[in-house]
Amino acid sequence: MDNVSPAMPAAPLLANPGLWHGADLQDSDEWIFRFPSDALGEIEVALQHLRQGGLRAPNFGKADFPLPRFSSVLLQMLEELEHGRGFFLMRGFPIGKFTEQDAEDIFWGLGQHMGIPLSQNADGHLLGRVRNLGLDINKSNVRAYQTTAELIFHNDQSDLILLMCLKQAKSGGLSRLVSVTAIQNEIQLRRPDLLAELYQPFYIDRRGERGREDEGDAPYYAMPMLSYHKGLVTCRYIRGYIESAQRFPGVPRLTAKQIEALDLFDAIANEPGMALSFQMEPGDFQIANNYCVLHSRTSFEDYPDLERRRHLLRLWIAAPNSRELPPCFKERFGTCESGRKRGGIPPRVEVGAIADKVEEFRLDKV
Ligand SMILES: [Fe+2]
Repeated sequence: MDNVSPAMPAAPLLANPGLWHGADLQDSDEWIFRFPSDALGEIEVALQHLRQGGLRAPNFGKADFPLPRFSSVLLQMLEELEHGRGFFLMRGFPIGKFTEQDAEDIFWGLGQHMGIPLSQNADGHLLGRVRNLGLDINKSNVRAYQTTAELIFHNDQSDLILLMCLKQAKSGGLSRLVSVTAIQNEIQLRRPDLLAELYQPFYIDRRGERGREDEGDAPYYAMPMLSYHKGLVTCRYIRGYIESAQRFPGVPRLTAKQIEALDLFDAIANEPGMALSFQMEPGDFQIANNYCVLHSRTSFEDYPDLERRRHLLRLWIAAPNSRELPPCFKERFGTCESGRKRGGIPPRVEVGAIADKVEEFRLDKV
């Protein structure tokens, strides 16, 4: 087996995991997995088991939430995420039967069967909330997922992202997904010179979040946006952090060609037929492989009352069947080995305190 990986594919990849076009999926439901009704009984029993033990997310593990048959379905989903299209929506979960606390516990319990949840921010939150807090996106300490603003295509720092919709916005807030390989192929056809730029390192802002112990103290790190390793295109992309890294004197200025390459990437992602758009409904689960699928959401209008506002739960998961990552991921992800706990954002809090971390909101700030 040849272990020498080319820096980038020699030609567009015609058949590759994670390669799809929104136009081929938009009018079909082959990417929607119907929640199997016979799994409901198992989930109800598992929930009773939690209640009897006085357990709540995120303070329980897989053994505390047994799913004798549904767990094998979840494992099949993992295969689809790594070797198939790289995402799916699970629809039809009867969320109306459950309280918000139940929903959190169910989401956490399902996540336990799909891998290891990771810290999503410097506070060590393992179970995150995507919710409009009425905050101003223009303030430097506000993260976009706490506002109604549009999120442009990006990925998160983990093998998988899992979202569960508890409440929809009043209007807008469409989820959008796009295939990284489909975009890379298009750039390769149109401007191979610009594609080469994307396979070179970019400097990325850490936004005040610290590095791992062996990463050093620099407030930024460098990584290519695209890598080609073991026959797979693997992406790490969050443009806002590339742009804000420019505030550091030690970071080389972005070149005109780098900016042109990023602009072309974003433009193709938004061309008709590339992305898939859908509205998440309460009870929907959206699950995507971050390395080959980027996500975004459109801006939305929300209800004044916090209790009615758009509200999603989020997990970042290290998956047991994850791909081997290109060597450039080692510093930021801790290891490139497949199937290992890797990624996430190193928490500032003591490790022992992380177990209690569900992201809470201070209503007095809303
Ligand atoms: Fe994200």
